Formats: sequence, C-alpha cells, structure tokens
Amino acid sequence: MAGQSGVARRSKITINTLNRMYKHNEPISMMTAQDYPSGLLVDRAGIDMCLVGDSLAMVALGYESTNPLTVEEMLHHCRAVARGCKHPFLVADLPYGSYETSPENALHSALRFLKEGNVEAVKLEGGEEMAETIRRITRVGVPVLGHVGLTPQRQSALGGFRVQGKTAKQAQALLKDALAVQEAGAFMIVLEAMPAEIASYITQRLHVPTIGIGAGVECSGQVLVQNDALGLFDRFVPK
Ligand code: KIV
Repeated sequence: MAGQSGVARRSKITINTLNRMYKHNEPISMMTAQDYPSGLLVDRAGIDMCLVGDSLAMVALGYESTNPLTVEEMLHHCRAVARGCKHPFLVADLPYGSYETSPENALHSALRFLKEGNVEAVKLEGGEEMAETIRRITRVGVPVLGHVGLTPQRQSALGGFRVQGKTAKQAQALLKDALAVQEAGAFMIVLEAMPAEIASYITQRLHVPTIGIGAGVECSGQVLVQNDALGLFDRFVPK
C-alpha cells in the first residue's frame, strides 16, 4: 500500500541491499540532495542511494568550484538531508582538504561524517594514490564510495571539468585506479565523465558496483545531481 510518500511501503536500503541488487544485475539509482526538502524528494521518489555531494558548493552555495567547501558547512547540509531522507543509503562527500593529507586525518574526517553528519558512508575522490587512505577508513568499518575519472576537486590540475580517459594510456590508468580503489576496500565506485566503452570495460573488470555520471549506460547504476536533473543550475549545462 502506498503511504504518504507515494512509495509502496519500503524497507531501509542497506549496503546488503545494494550488494544484492548488484548480484542480480538490478540497476542502482543515486541522486544528490543538499537540504531537508531535496532529501525528502530523493526518499519519496524511491531512489536507492542519496549522495550529499560536494557539488552542493556550486549548485546550492554559489561557489565557483567544490574546493572552498568546509567540513563544518558540509556537516550542516548532511544533517539536514538525513532528517528528510530515511530510506535510501546515505553517503556524503569528504570535502576537499579533509582527507588528502594523511590516512589518519581522513579517518578522523570520515568518523565525523558518520557521528555528526548522520550519514552511512563517505565518498572520496582519487585512484591508486588514495588506496592506503581507503584501506585505513574501511578497515575500521566505515564504508567508502570511490570516485575516479573526472574528479571535480582536482579540476584545477585537470584544466577544468573535462572528460577523462580519452587515450588508451589514460584509459589504462583509469582501470588501474579503479582496481586499486576496489582492492583497498571501497564498496562501490563512481565513474565520472569518461567514454562509455571505458566505463563499461571497467565495470566488467570489477567485482563491486560502478555508478556512472557522464559515463554511458553500462555501469551498475547512475547518479544525477538533483539540481541538474531539475534544471535548477544553469551556470553550465552538463551534456
Ligand atoms: O558532488 C557530487 O555531486 C558528485 C557526483 C557528481 C557524483 O560527486
């Protein structure tokens, strides 16, 4: 029976639900939220995962990039989303500068997001170079969502928000990164802005789900930035 939410009685999505979906080839849906009402929308739409993405720095706070966002700002948004978003598996981005300096710092930040942000997992950007950090966080029971390809926190070094993996050498590096992140313990990996063939190949080579954004249709699931999906952010329009 559909309740007030319009969604038939739902149970809480856990990491086990997501693993089961992956095993049965069921597509996994993820959408971002940045506050109570947008969290409520993700919940009521029956979406599997909700990401408090640091894209909120741009789409909700008007920053030029995700880089200026602080841990305190992000925690404030996480708590608001968590109040509205009860069923989806809730993940938060670790903000730029809160996890790169050492695995210990990263673990400290990750624990704050679970304790004070009321989320269930953290996402961090990067490949092979972040493996030790991912290992440190996951070994104490904090689920980590990896993120390779276009890593927006590094847009300055990448020369902007550009598609990655266009040459064979770059594509090989992406695969190596994804394998290293998986090996380090990530439960899932976001593949952002890369040719569909590369994302498809990486997905086939991994034994954890991939979530694509601008990476074709052959990932294990898809993520959308809610403001983009609703046409609420017009500084630039994603393809
Ligand atoms: O911050 C964000 O919204 C993200 C998605 C693009 C995956 O990282």
